[in-house]
Amino acid sequence: MNGHIVLLPGDGIGPEVTTAACAVLHAVEARFGHTFHTAPHLIGGAALRATQVPLPDETLQAATAADAVFLGAVGDPAFDQAPPGKRPESALLVIRKALGLYANLRPARVWSGLEASGPLKPSVLAGTDLMVVRELTGGLYYGEPRGLAADGQSAHNTLRYSVDEITRIARVAFDLARRRRGRLVSVDKANVLEVSQLWRRTVQQLATEYPEVVLTHEYVDSAAMKLALAPSTIDVLLTENLFGDILSDEAGAVCGSLGLLPSASLGAKVGLFEPVHGSAPTIAGRDIANPIGAMASMAMLLEHSFGLASEAAAITQAIDDTLSAGLRTADIADPGTTPAATSQFTAAVTAALSRA
Ligand code: IPM
Ligand code: MG
Repeated sequence: MNGHIVLLPGDGIGPEVTTAACAVLHAVEARFGHTFHTAPHLIGGAALRATQVPLPDETLQAATAADAVFLGAVGDPAFDQAPPGKRPESALLVIRKALGLYANLRPARVWSGLEASGPLKPSVLAGTDLMVVRELTGGLYYGEPRGLAADGQSAHNTLRYSVDEITRIARVAFDLARRRRGRLVSVDKANVLEVSQLWRRTVQQLATEYPEVVLTHEYVDSAAMKLALAPSTIDVLLTENLFGDILSDEAGAVCGSLGLLPSASLGAKVGLFEPVHGSAPTIAGRDIANPIGAMASMAMLLEHSFGLASEAAAITQAIDDTLSAGLRTADIADPGTTPAATSQFTAAVTAALSRA
């Protein structure tokens, strides 16, 4: 296998976790006999500092021409006061739209040995293995009209979804549910919002094509509660952009740390893979970030963009082995124990990959 991967390390802990994910990629190349070309490009605050724009044309062109894109994180408090188009995050919104990445998959599960490292009782968390399917190129994030009134006294955003947009993301969720445990919960706010009523009706209609999937509907407030009270009862959770943003952070926290969560954004030709955690500026550059979300995102990249399921499984296994050996980064370490550095954890995972 020969492949071309564009790397967008970005901001904060993005570069550190990208380095970790690449170390794992190299271990996979050596073990399975593949060659991947990796080319780094600028995005986010890093791009703003170097070129005055958050997403240089050159980056978008490289991403469009690649087989897959790996992104570390974007976000930099230095630009907090900048106007919307000059903020690091806008790069993410533009690249998602430009690459047609309407389907955001965010799996969350308990890793071996981490049953007690989260906020939940281990008995409640046990068996949790869920997939958030988040619509990623519509809803309030992109709706027009939008803006701040000239007098600064009001602001507005638009929530709009079409039947086509709902159908294509729901299809992704149904297809996943069919291959998993056959249960799909569609999350909306249909007791208040017309958009949610259309969402619910459209998902219900599609369900007739998937008789083997058990579909339920849940209001978003109640879904947030269930995610905290009984996460193991959820298989696939389908929702719109903003609800998915919120619920996927909650899913990460429930499983022990946001640092553990990978994601895949799919839709058209090129997929984009990134850890869910974001740039975490307060811990950047200190070699203490959790690289698991990034490594697991690299595993998703190999599986979805190159069809390399065994290679992806080998990465997951190596992470599990490293956790089983007792290594923990600071975010998941038990109080009173010495946490492993990012680089140390990464070296252990690549060693586990090479050993196998
Ligand atoms: C995420 C992030 C982004 C989002 C931000 C950085 C724009 O929170 O990927 O979940 O809201 O989609
Ligand atoms: Mg988010």
